[in-house]
Amino acid sequence: EKRIPLIAANWKMHKTVGESVAFIEELQREVGAVTDREVVIAPPFTALAAVRRVMTAPGYRLASQNCHQEAKGAFTGEVSGGMLKDVGCEYVIVGHSERRHVFGETNETIRLKVAAAFACGLVPILCVGEVLAERESNRTFKVVDEQVQSAVLGLTPQQARELVIAYEPVWAIGTGKTATPDQAQEVHAFIRERYAALCDKTVANLTRILYGGSVKPDNVDSLMAQPDVDGLLVGGASLEVGSFKRIIRFVS
Ligand code: G3H
Repeated sequence: EKRIPLIAANWKMHKTVGESVAFIEELQREVGAVTDREVVIAPPFTALAAVRRVMTAPGYRLASQNCHQEAKGAFTGEVSGGMLKDVGCEYVIVGHSERRHVFGETNETIRLKVAAAFACGLVPILCVGEVLAERESNRTFKVVDEQVQSAVLGLTPQQARELVIAYEPVWAIGTGKTATPDQAQEVHAFIRERYAALCDKTVANLTRILYGGSVKPDNVDSLMAQPDVDGLLVGGASLEVGSFKRIIRFVS
């Protein structure tokens, strides 16, 4: 069994329904069916249903950018995993650095969201990563280890195998300052090693670890050439069909 590369577009708070649909139609027209990799699109909540309807080519999957940890209840403004499954999502991004740092999500909230996503039949894409001050004080491994360890607490072996991890150094997000392929590889290998210790070696060998943070058409090939980089979580460069198409077509 091999790890199938996964390329995810995180549109964050961008695109209307019309813009989202037009993007998906153009992308599918230009790229067509994808067989040896998975393309995951995470539009804003408002565009999920419309994107689901036009996303018909094989190899494309729908994701949400967040979910609430409770199944239902008096949580004004929140969306549950069950609702996302109902609209056709297969994946949900959990613990993105913006959720952690702008909206105050803790490792504990994120652990609950990972569990809630699995309970609803969604696959979480768990984001982890250090801020600049943590990297500069040599705490990268410690921070990432705590984030991963906390999130996987209590997962079944099957869930641990399905979970997708995205390493996104916070200093590289939206800054144009990509981690070098070696920097990415170093942390990815560390995550896999820790995952093997926490879960199981076979599971860790099958788990996909994505890189995110200023991924662009001109650095995608060298990142994907790293042995432990199994895919990408793309923000800014996923907003234009031209650049995202090139990223999907990485060669490694
Ligand atoms: O989820 C995506 C990441 O936050 C990366 O964003 O590609 O704009 O740096 P970026």
